[in-house]
Amino acid sequence: MEKRRNLRAAVVGCGALARSVHLPNLKENPRVELAVTCDIDFEKARECCELYGAERAESDWRRLIDDPDIDLIILVTHTELRGELIVPALRAGKPVYTEKPLTTDREELLEIVRTSTQEGVPVCVGHNRRSSPAMIEFKRLLDRAKTYKNPVRPSVDRHYSRAKLPEEERLQLLIRIDDDARSWKEWGFWSPEGTMFNEMVHFIDIALWLNDSYPVRLFAEGSPRGNFVLVMRFADGSLTTFHHSMVGHFDYPKELFEATVNNISLAMDHHIEIRQFGMEDEEIVKVFPFNRDCDWAEKEGMSGYMQAMENELQRIKKEGGNLRFLRVNKGHYMHLDRFMDHIEGNGENPCDAQSAAPVNRIAVRALQSARLGMPVQIGCEDWHIPQISDD
Ligand SMILES: NC(=O)c1ccc[n+]([C@@H]2O[C@H](COP(=O)([O-])OP(=O)(O)OC[C@H]3O[C@@H](n4cnc5c(N)ncnc54)[C@H](O)[C@@H]3O)[C@@H](O)[C@H]2O)c1
Repeated sequence: MEKRRNLRAAVVGCGALARSVHLPNLKENPRVELAVTCDIDFEKARECCELYGAERAESDWRRLIDDPDIDLIILVTHTELRGELIVPALRAGKPVYTEKPLTTDREELLEIVRTSTQEGVPVCVGHNRRSSPAMIEFKRLLDRAKTYKNPVRPSVDRHYSRAKLPEEERLQLLIRIDDDARSWKEWGFWSPEGTMFNEMVHFIDIALWLNDSYPVRLFAEGSPRGNFVLVMRFADGSLTTFHHSMVGHFDYPKELFEATVNNISLAMDHHIEIRQFGMEDEEIVKVFPFNRDCDWAEKEGMSGYMQAMENELQRIKKEGGNLRFLRVNKGHYMHLDRFMDHIEGNGENPCDAQSAAPVNRIAVRALQSARLGMPVQIGCEDWHIPQISDD
């Protein structure tokens, strides 16, 4: 039997994320061959070609579009290069995995969605948290919690025969990001959209994914560069609060997702631990492994994380040097791998352009709210894309 040909990938943009995530992941994934590394700065492309064993380096992505030897383009530049590459690549029959954010530009968004639909060639947007193993489990538990019958009785119960209030049927979700601006690259401070757009697309995506209703109103308070709070109201009355800080410590577990619904409390800490109380047939605490290159942490979960950092502090006191970065699995490898499944006709696209477009539009509305100092309405034209005919 003829051996199936591996997918042949080209990576465009050989900066920090490509080097720390996509290129090592491609090297590790046996189903894909790294054909080309491309960067406008040819020296970076050449260096990555050598480091990650690509076949050739390029400085102009246009040379990849009609190359029959490339099956997949992985776009890891900033938003200055999106539709300009994605649209002709799709027309040439090449699927594109693009990093977030997709774009702030409504026309560009629509053109990408339209071309992908009409050509029947998929785009996957790097909202990779949808593919984090802990996030997938968190969603499974939350979906179950929403309709769970007879949650565990609380230690103090004055419920008696009281009928539930309408508010008691809603989902209350908190997404807390504890970041450290000392770790940011220079562009983070100069980007006109700031963290409120560039980073929040990840978390707005998760909020839309976890809520069953559609958003109707959004209020942003604070500086879009990094210290802010967003409150998003959904049509069914559910609320999601996003709390973003730029003044935390980089080595403290950065992300917390906490949901309460139907008298069940659920928390997912930094993709390494899930806690729940209220569903008696589910585990109360579940832990998830750190990244493969972090086997110096002896124990999993939050207590394992904090213990590892305590050991690190002792180690650098004795030996000097810097703390090691304890990486967690935010789903990057699996997101791209699931996209490759989809390209090969197995399974769904983990994040198509159609579902990423509303996220970008709503993140733009957050910026508008922050600048106005007032809540903004979110309408169907923000979260809904009309049907696109394929002719
Ligand atoms: N999914 C995630 O978890 C995650 C994490 C970090 C960054 N990102 C996203 O990844 C993207 C890249 O971020 P980064 O930190 O690697 O940035 P970076 O600045 O380190 O790298 C970008 C690279 O793109 C190259 N480039 C720019 N224009 C180009 C062009 N026209 N053709 C070829 N190469 C070009 C630059 O020379 C640079 O090497 C951003 O959109 C960022 O938001 C995603």
